[in-house]
Amino acid sequence: MITIKDNRFLLATKNTIYIFRHNEAGLLIHDYYGKKIDIADFKILEMKTGGGFGSAVLYEGRERQYVGQFGLETSSPGIGDFREPQLKLFHPETGYYSNFKYAGREKTSETIGPLPASYGADDVLRIDLYDDVLKLKLELYYKVFYEADVISRYARVVNESTREITIERLFSMLLDLRDSDYAMMTFEGDWAKERHLIEKKLVSGVYVNDAKTGASSNIRNPLVILRRDNADEFQGSCYGFNLVYSGNHKTMIEVTPLKKTRLLTGINDYAFNHILTEGADFITPEAVMTYSDRGLNRLSQNFHVFVNNHIVRGRFKNKERPVLLNTWEGSYFNFNEKQLLRQAKVAKEVGIELFVLDDGWFGRRNNDKSSLGDWDVNTKKLPGGLSGFARKINDLGMEFGLWVEPEMINEDSDLYRAHPEWAVRIPGRKPALGRNQLVLDLTNPEVCDYLIGKLSEVFLSCNIKYVKWDYNRNITDMYGKTLANQGEFFHKYIMGFYRVMSALTERFPDILFEGCASGGNRFDLGMLCFFPQIWTSDNTDYLERIYIQRGTSYGYPLSAIANHVSSVPNHQTLRATPLSSRFNLACFGNLGYELDLTALDEKSISAIKRQIAFYKSRRRLFQYGTFYRGREFIDESHATYFYVVEPDRSRAIVGYFQELLHPALKEDIIYVDGLDEGELYRFYHKPERINIKIFGSLINYILPFKIKLNGKIHNLISRFYRPKAGGESYKVYGNALKRAGIRLNQQFMGTGFGSEVRVLGDFGSALYMIEKSEDK
Ligand code: DGJ
Repeated sequence: MITIKDNRFLLATKNTIYIFRHNEAGLLIHDYYGKKIDIADFKILEMKTGGGFGSAVLYEGRERQYVGQFGLETSSPGIGDFREPQLKLFHPETGYYSNFKYAGREKTSETIGPLPASYGADDVLRIDLYDDVLKLKLELYYKVFYEADVISRYARVVNESTREITIERLFSMLLDLRDSDYAMMTFEGDWAKERHLIEKKLVSGVYVNDAKTGASSNIRNPLVILRRDNADEFQGSCYGFNLVYSGNHKTMIEVTPLKKTRLLTGINDYAFNHILTEGADFITPEAVMTYSDRGLNRLSQNFHVFVNNHIVRGRFKNKERPVLLNTWEGSYFNFNEKQLLRQAKVAKEVGIELFVLDDGWFGRRNNDKSSLGDWDVNTKKLPGGLSGFARKINDLGMEFGLWVEPEMINEDSDLYRAHPEWAVRIPGRKPALGRNQLVLDLTNPEVCDYLIGKLSEVFLSCNIKYVKWDYNRNITDMYGKTLANQGEFFHKYIMGFYRVMSALTERFPDILFEGCASGGNRFDLGMLCFFPQIWTSDNTDYLERIYIQRGTSYGYPLSAIANHVSSVPNHQTLRATPLSSRFNLACFGNLGYELDLTALDEKSISAIKRQIAFYKSRRRLFQYGTFYRGREFIDESHATYFYVVEPDRSRAIVGYFQELLHPALKEDIIYVDGLDEGELYRFYHKPERINIKIFGSLINYILPFKIKLNGKIHNLISRFYRPKAGGESYKVYGNALKRAGIRLNQQFMGTGFGSEVRVLGDFGSALYMIEKSEDK
């Protein structure tokens, strides 16, 4: 809800308020952003400047206008604010100076412009600013999402002069916070190590979280959180920021020696400039921010609600997603129809709903050296073509899905031979290669049109219900053959990509598009406008995934996170972990399997059957439940836990995930928030049958006679004698679960075994059910 009181603007969400004003000098002054407050006198929010500031300059020489000390809503070079500016505009005659003054405001409707953006805002405010010497207009947009506690912002510059100016920087937003007692949380990594949480305490200086790879990147995700030093998952103040953009991004945080914090976020000004011709405009991507005074879980939940309701769109919005089998790690490039159908039969048997044919189905693609660009089926592998194969999958009772990587091209491809000029490269230079491939030049509208046409042909050729859209290299050699200004390459590339995706999602509304970029190299809000879910990481190792899924959860909902159970030893780490743990963790999001089902023994197949049936019975909870990170962190403890709570608070599921088992473990206590405090619940974990072989030679310690390990008797006992362990069941009130928690049974650690001992071992895990009890 937006209220305008004289010269003040009050942007209120359910729990937060954002307040700024314009002053007599035409400056936009920021006064407050945080928990909703009642205000008797706005003066309490205003910074007092009666005493002056030593070397500060006065804005336009006006009394008390210490523009370098004020909290502002925008800033540009030359006016006396020496912090990082939101804009850097270069004018051929007067250089970098620009000076935008308040010129009016309007409550307006939704987003303008060609960029993907959020939708369904409750209120939108446009503030107009004008530089009447340069004849430039600056519009600042504020969108309010009441229920989600989110405010988003973007900016537009319009050149109303008769000269060209160059935009060297135009961030989507600037936020000045009044102090600097924050830790900065970023989500960083690399391939197979996406979105690991990094924290640093802010001190005076400038911090940058950015990507220069052409994509939002696995190096640094655009998500940034500032948390008060004493805030944790359940309490304390924190601010979160993200960007609806998939290209090079940059967040700058400047802490001044006087301990004020400025945050800027938007398109990266690295290798960027944009020429604004007479009458032209430039619109930034939308920056998104939220505030929570109830810790990081609430902050993440705000983002989750926002993404599920205002970013993801189309038929799959808030819809349950299918359980899939992906062929990549089970077959790689090496398959034929017969083998695939054998897999598909087992897939159907275990309950898979969607069969996804990954890389290797087209051109002469038998390894990663050729054929990207040649999106015609390889009839040696699939004699009946895609349509014939898809029909067979449909006949088995599953949907059919397909992998593509349309933005890329191999030099060894018919497309490259026909159109070498469509690849991104600088004339006269040897281009860098990534995974043996070049990038297609999406700054060239002809290339985008070709892709829309060719992919439409593929998608129309058979009954496709899902497309995995991959992107396997970073962009170098940035040069667009049809661009007049190469400073626009990176932004125009991503705009070309968005145009292709807009056309395809509009034309194929029934296809579920899953984003992928060597795993999670482009996991951002821009992608989520087209791809309701994203392949989180190529790393499917249980232990690694705990870090990756936890990091991802800070900004992105479970419905966006795709997880697969893969084989062991894991293909990324060679680590062997229990099937149950791989599944338990993969449940938190969209479940898939990625392994050769025909290579599994009967026991594993029936376990997978049970897993899928269990997941389906609670799918909505796992994909759309309110998600919490528990109190323990794997980097500080031997285990961690996550949980999801049904929105009506009738049930919840806790996933307990252990790293290595150590003797003399700290006691495991699980606390669960978000339930009805006065209601009674049953908290339980069904006992599991244990294979006594896991105890190794300890068997000889309890038996009255000695047996040979793995000998006939040992095998026989292990087949017929399976003691129960791990079962626990308690009645507990919601308030007790939150405050006292459940002290779990001890784990086996060399000192005793019985039905009241949990036997988890290294990389063990468990799912605990919580259900409202009928008893009182
Ligand atoms: C990278 C993806 O992340 C994998 O899942 C797989 O699709 C391969 N590309 C195929 O080349």
